[in-house]
Amino acid sequence: MADGRFYLTTPIYYVNADPHIGHAYTTIMADILARHHRQLGEEVFFLTGTDEHGGKIATSAEREGRTPREHADILSARFRDLGGLLDATYDFFIRTTDLEHEAEVARIFQGLHDSGDVYKGSYGGWYCSASEAFYAEGDLLEGRLCPVHKTPVEWVEEENWFFRLSAYRDRLLEHYDADPGWVQPQARYNEARRMIEQGLDDLSVSRAQVEWGVPVPWDPEQTIYVWIDALLNYRTALGYARPGEDLVERFWPPDLQLMAKDILKFHAVIWPAMLMAAGLELPRRLMIHGYVLKGGEKMSKTTGNVVDPFPFIESYGIDALRYYLAREVRFGEDGTFTAEGFEGRYSQELANELGNLLNRVVSMIGRYRGGVVPPDGGADGEIAGEVSAATASLTTAFERLDVSRGIEDVWRLVQRLNRLVEQRAPWTLAKDPARAGELDQTLHTLAEGLRAVAILLWPVIPGSAESILAALGQDPAAVAIADAAWGAGRPGATVAPSGQLFPRVEEEAA
Ligand code: MSP
Repeated sequence: MADGRFYLTTPIYYVNADPHIGHAYTTIMADILARHHRQLGEEVFFLTGTDEHGGKIATSAEREGRTPREHADILSARFRDLGGLLDATYDFFIRTTDLEHEAEVARIFQGLHDSGDVYKGSYGGWYCSASEAFYAEGDLLEGRLCPVHKTPVEWVEEENWFFRLSAYRDRLLEHYDADPGWVQPQARYNEARRMIEQGLDDLSVSRAQVEWGVPVPWDPEQTIYVWIDALLNYRTALGYARPGEDLVERFWPPDLQLMAKDILKFHAVIWPAMLMAAGLELPRRLMIHGYVLKGGEKMSKTTGNVVDPFPFIESYGIDALRYYLAREVRFGEDGTFTAEGFEGRYSQELANELGNLLNRVVSMIGRYRGGVVPPDGGADGEIAGEVSAATASLTTAFERLDVSRGIEDVWRLVQRLNRLVEQRAPWTLAKDPARAGELDQTLHTLAEGLRAVAILLWPVIPGSAESILAALGQDPAAVAIADAAWGAGRPGATVAPSGQLFPRVEEEAA
């Protein structure tokens, strides 16, 4: 961002079930972008966490014979553990049961009441407890099923507190018109704008029947609707993530908020209206990605087609999963997870094209030059140009949030380096002392090209990228985009052969 700061969020995940590849996907994509912005030298704040209140969590706790708090503690820890396994470098993990969060939610909600945006009314509607949302009759699937979960909805009638969402229609439309890029991709922008145009009903924002939540400050018989509680996490976290520091001033508003399209309306309609009502600046950009599908359907607990990420990580390493998801599922579109596709990309791209390339380069430098990377003779300007072009196109693609494209651009460089090995055949050059200069240049170019590849792929496969740099005798922490420039590495480095980067995996993970 212009001010050198970048505040990025994922949705906070429900603690009603174990995390699956779908959740992992959002967190991984957010982490890739967070790392990339750090590479650009920006000060990044990356937030994720868990959404722990509401009827749905209380019900799943009851089913497990636990109190809601015990249940939330157990499942929240699983999401946090998964974050660690994913190598996600989030700066704070918020839980909506944090006391600081609860207090701030009550305070902001009180403010909405004081300004007249929250009023008392009564409401009846079709409620899906998995969505924690009411649906209009016309939105339901045949047989009165929730359009998202395809499970029966129930008629719920209550007297509760309402948010004057309808009053924000014009201001929302003005905002959409003034900033056509604020919801990405365009199709989601259009979809959200249409929802607003078609007219908005006021929103029921408290529940009399749900005890597990933040009490309405002036009416403690009711709790604040879980979505209001949850959305506010993006704001409340900044108040207490770093004790003694108020990050609001530094990071508000979010530069980028990620989520899948299931929660578009909450983030692209209700959330900005709430912020307008509270007098707060709106996020700069929302990125609505697609679904990770399994067997043609959204992977979800309710559908029951979930893939557990843990065994894949155990067998193949986290970088393989990060790489596969980021490359396979075009950011913004749906993509299908298959074990075969995963294994295919692992063995063809990661193991053969990248891992073997590194092995060959390191071992040839060892064999022919005693392990020392020869200096640059300046004869490979063309490859140097390709490195700088790949750097530029990756940066542009990531700025446009086209992560898969950015990876493809770098991968062409990987393939180019593989071709170079074949074309120059260093093993032949090594036999002819008259061609020592050519051999020097080739080995230099390969090492330098790989060094750039490692830096450019670092956001996607951080651990492997650092291993590549270490194997090339480079500083594994030198991963800024500026370090990818030709010649920016440590001169005369000594290679340090290590184990196979993406070893063959015999057992299937799924
Ligand atoms: N708790 C709410 C979000 C509140 S944010 C203020 C919620 N939780 S959730 O656990 O259901 O997570 C939904 C999010 O998880 C999606 O928006 C998406 O980021 C991620 N995904 C869950 N399943 C997914 C797929 N199958 N594919 C892609 N993303 C998936 O909604």
